[in-house]
Amino acid sequence: MGETLDIEPVDASFGATVRGLELRSLDGQTWQAIRRAWLEYGLLIFPAQHLTRDEQNEFALRFGELEFAAAPISNVGKSGRIHSAPDDDVVKGIRGNEGWHHDSTYMPVQAKGAVFTAEIVPSCGAPTGFADMRAAYEALDADTQQQLAGLQAYHSLYYSQGRAGYLPSKTNDRGGYDQYGYHDGEPCLRPLVKIHPETGRPNLCIGRHAYGIIGMEPAESEALLDRLVVEACRPPRVHFHRWTEGDAIVWDNRRLLHCATEFDLTEPRRMWHTRIAGERESELAVNYA
Ligand SMILES: [Fe+2]
Repeated sequence: MGETLDIEPVDASFGATVRGLELRSLDGQTWQAIRRAWLEYGLLIFPAQHLTRDEQNEFALRFGELEFAAAPISNVGKSGRIHSAPDDDVVKGIRGNEGWHHDSTYMPVQAKGAVFTAEIVPSCGAPTGFADMRAAYEALDADTQQQLAGLQAYHSLYYSQGRAGYLPSKTNDRGGYDQYGYHDGEPCLRPLVKIHPETGRPNLCIGRHAYGIIGMEPAESEALLDRLVVEACRPPRVHFHRWTEGDAIVWDNRRLLHCATEFDLTEPRRMWHTRIAGERESELAVNYA
């Protein structure tokens, strides 16, 4: 396969489906075409790939270092037990992800992107939503763009899970949580308007982990951040991908928000998530520099 991908844009301001290639065995030219398409579309969907965990990680490594290798996002425990009770910490983690977010904005270095694959899919397809924060920024009126310039918000998983009522029940001996993302460092401070390091285009950096805009009262900050998400995450800037087993997708986490959607938790679902690390030059929180 040469330069040209079999690529079909989805019905939104971003996103495309790519067919006719195997991610496990890409030639150099095809990889370069994928990389360019990823920056252009922000979200690429590759049906029927059925990658192994190693193949998934190898594909992700083409984009950069890994924040973490393929990890299960699932309601199926190691023993095969299905977690479905509302007070179960696995369920709380799954439900929290139903709010729009960028991955790892609560960590010192925001993620660059992720490769996400479907191994076991419940009957409803358990769609994942994506939203284009570049188009959302461009759709704002000039006054709002001016209001946002220079504003910074904190990002924290304690905040987002606490607000949604999904903090884990199980604490460690220091009174904190052992799950990924609940770190003891300062909450991470990030500009509301981010310049994408590879395209140079501005986009919003918002979502459920963001709170406490510097210089605003908490309620005013919360109202502004909530309003921005509601206005941003609507057509034509959203796409919900209904999963089929074997699908693989990769998204640009610097540009897009994403969210899980509700499904019948008594049905098994097992997804695999490989998180691509952001580069420190562009993704480091401003108070960690
Ligand atoms: Fe996520």
